[in-house]
Order: sequence, then structure tokens, then C-alpha cells
Amino acid sequence: MKNALITGITGQDGAYLSQHLLKEGYKVYGLIARRSTDTLWRLNYLGIENEVELIEGDMTDISSLIRAIKISKASEVYNLAAQSFVGTSWSQPILTAEVTGVGVTNILEAIRLLDPSIKFYQASTSEMFGLIQESMQSENTPFYPRSPYGVAKLYGHWITVNYRESFNIHASSGILFNHESPLRGIEFVTRKVTDAVAKIKLGLSDELRLGNIDAKRDWGFAGDYVEAMWMMLQQDKPDDYVIATGKTTTVRDMCKIAFDHVNLNYDDYVIIDPKFYRPAEVDVLLGNPTKAKEKLKWEPKTSLEDLIIMMVDADLGRIKKQQQRG
Ligand code: NAP
Ligand code: GDD
Repeated sequence: MKNALITGITGQDGAYLSQHLLKEGYKVYGLIARRSTDTLWRLNYLGIENEVELIEGDMTDISSLIRAIKISKASEVYNLAAQSFVGTSWSQPILTAEVTGVGVTNILEAIRLLDPSIKFYQASTSEMFGLIQESMQSENTPFYPRSPYGVAKLYGHWITVNYRESFNIHASSGILFNHESPLRGIEFVTRKVTDAVAKIKLGLSDELRLGNIDAKRDWGFAGDYVEAMWMMLQQDKPDDYVIATGKTTTVRDMCKIAFDHVNLNYDDYVIIDPKFYRPAEVDVLLGNPTKAKEKLKWEPKTSLEDLIIMMVDADLGRIKKQQQRG
């Protein structure tokens, strides 16, 4: 049996990746940061809370990372932990740099010192393309990050490449475009929309305030994307891969899908609120997943329509349950 350690196990991707690795027969360990509130709701939602082993630690504390690697005896480490909300990266830029950027060096150093044969996955991002330099972004497109988060992730990407080249570590960087699910944090735009649509439909709200709805994203389903992470670490050689659908859609059209699903007109409810504008915007992202298709045999399976409908239905179900509980 193989052992895996996931940092960020309590996040959206951490939950789906745990589920996938358990299905593949792994013993799954996860790094859990100390919080005053419960962060296990996603693992709970998937019914796997008791199937994973949690080890306390923080990306900014290398001693805790060394301890987690020792306890888990992991042969694969998936580094998903991050301050991952772009908006927050302008109000907490230093924290973002330390967790999302330097945190990657902390875990790579722990691997280098303890056992450089451990395979490593870094959760890189399409945010690194930012002000896009090519209409469709591939592994060869130059980067131009537009947020403190994007800058921190670019550091994480290059330190991963550097440890691969310097120390021969099997370290791969997955450049994942936006991926969503019913387990998405409520601050991200898809989930903000699907939650609001459910509340409006059930008479609990009558408006949805958004920022730049002309922004375009290449959105896929998180459940499909975590499989690509695992596939990268099963390759003979480490490498970098773009994971995307190859389609881009405006926030406006994504909203339409969500409102249409419950027979409402988005125009009657959406209010543009400059409060949600960003100091620098990433106007459009569109990924070219050809390399992943050819080398990993990975393909996205879920359409944006199916994804948004899945999310609206999950939010309707969640709210109805809460109402029943009183
Ligand atoms: P998420 O839901 O925000 O999860 C982030 C995880 O990181 C949580 O488990 C969080 O723990 C943990 N974390 C935050 N600060 C930490 C710290 N100092 N020490 C230890 N753990 C810490 O993010 P996600 O959507 O699952 O994304 C997973 C990774 O992929 C992130 O690195 C993200 O930047 C990257 N990514 C995401 C997307 C996407 O579209 N989802 C696309 C490209 C790349 P708590 O639960 O305790 O806060
Ligand atoms: N969050 C949010 N809230 N975004 C809004 C809103 C709003 O009210 N209104 C418009 N938007 C626009 C944002 O300006 C952005 O252009 C787009 O919707 C998507 O925003 P998010 O869902 O917050 O995601 P993101 O693209 O900034 O970042 C996500 O994807 C990255 C990959 O490209 C995060 O998951 C990052 O961690 C990830 O790396």
C-alpha cells in the first residue's frame, strides 16, 4: 500500500483528491492547520472524514512539515495548501507570500532533507498567466501574474522546477485552470452565484451583488482535475502540465446557466457592485490541455452546464436541509 500526504486536505481539492487516492488504495494522510472552527465539512460531505489520518501542521512551520512527512511515511506529497483567494491576496499580501509562496520551499526542503525520492505535486495555477500573452495558454506561454496571489504561485512554480533540476526530485507542477464543485468556497464566484440562486429561488434573498461579470474563465469540475494531479505523479518523469477544458465563458453567461436552471432571469437579480472589482483584473483565461491529453491521457468529463446545475442543486439541497432543521 502506498502512503500519500496532502497539504490542504480540508480544501475543495484536498477532499476530492483524498477520495480519489482512497479509491486507488492509498493510505491518506492530511496536514491540518489549527483553526478555532471546524474545517472538516468537505471530508464529511464526501463521507471520508474517518478514512483519512490528520496531522497538525502549518505551511509556514517547516518543523511541522518534517514531522508530517515522518509520521505519514508518504511516498507522494501533494501540496494543495495555500491562501487561495485572489481578492484576499491584496489585503494580506505578506501572508499570501509566506503560505502560498515560501510554504512551497518549506515542504520541498523537508522532502530534500528527509527523502528526495518522495514524489511531489505542486498546485500551480492559471493565475500565473494573468495578463495573458497568448490567446490560448499552454505550458510554453510566458507568465504575467496580476495579483499578489499570482506572484506567490509563480514563485512556488519556479521553486518546484528548480528543485527538480537541482536535486533531481520527482516534482511536477500542475497549472490548473479554475475548477469548481459543490465543495467550492463560498467566496469564489461560481459558488457565490449558485448559493445566491438557491436562496433567491427559496425566497431567502432577492439580489446578487457581483463585480466584473465580463471576466472570462475556463471552468472545469474539481473531481475531474484531481485525477490529473495523481496521474502526474504516476509518470516516469516529472513535468509541468496545463489542466483545462479549452473553453472560456463570461461570469455573466455562467450566471445565466445558474438562473435558467431554476427558471429565473439573472438580469432581474444581479446588481453590479464596484466593491467586488479587483485592483488588477485577469480579464480572460483559456487553457490548452493538449499535452495532458497526449501524455497523461487526461480529459475533462464534465461540461460547465452540468457543473453549474450540480452546484445549484447541491445548494438547494443544503438550504432545504437547514430549513428542515429549523
Ligand atoms: P481551498 O479550498 O482554498 O483550500 C486551501 C487549503 O489550504 C485548505 O485546506 C486550507 O486549510 C489550507 N491552508 C491555508 N493556509 C494554510 C497554512 N498556512 N498551513 C496549512 N494549510 C493551509 O483551495 P482549493 O480550491 O482546494 O485549491 C487547492 C490548491 O490549488 C490551492 O493551492 C490553490 O491555490 C490551487 N489552485 C486552485 C484552483 C481552483 O480553481 N480551485 C486552480 C488552480 C490552483 P483551512 O481549511 O484550515 O483554511
Ligand atoms: N470572487 C468573486 N466575487 N469574483 C467575482 C465577483 C464576485 O462577486 N464578481 C466578478 N468576479 C470575477 C472576478 O473578478 C474574476 O475575474 C472571476 O469572477 C473569477 O473569480 P474567482 O471565482 O474569485 O476566481 P479567480 O479566477 O480569481 O481565482 C480562482 O481560480 C484560480 C485559477 O485561475 C481561485 O481558485 C485561485 O485559487 C485559482 O488559482
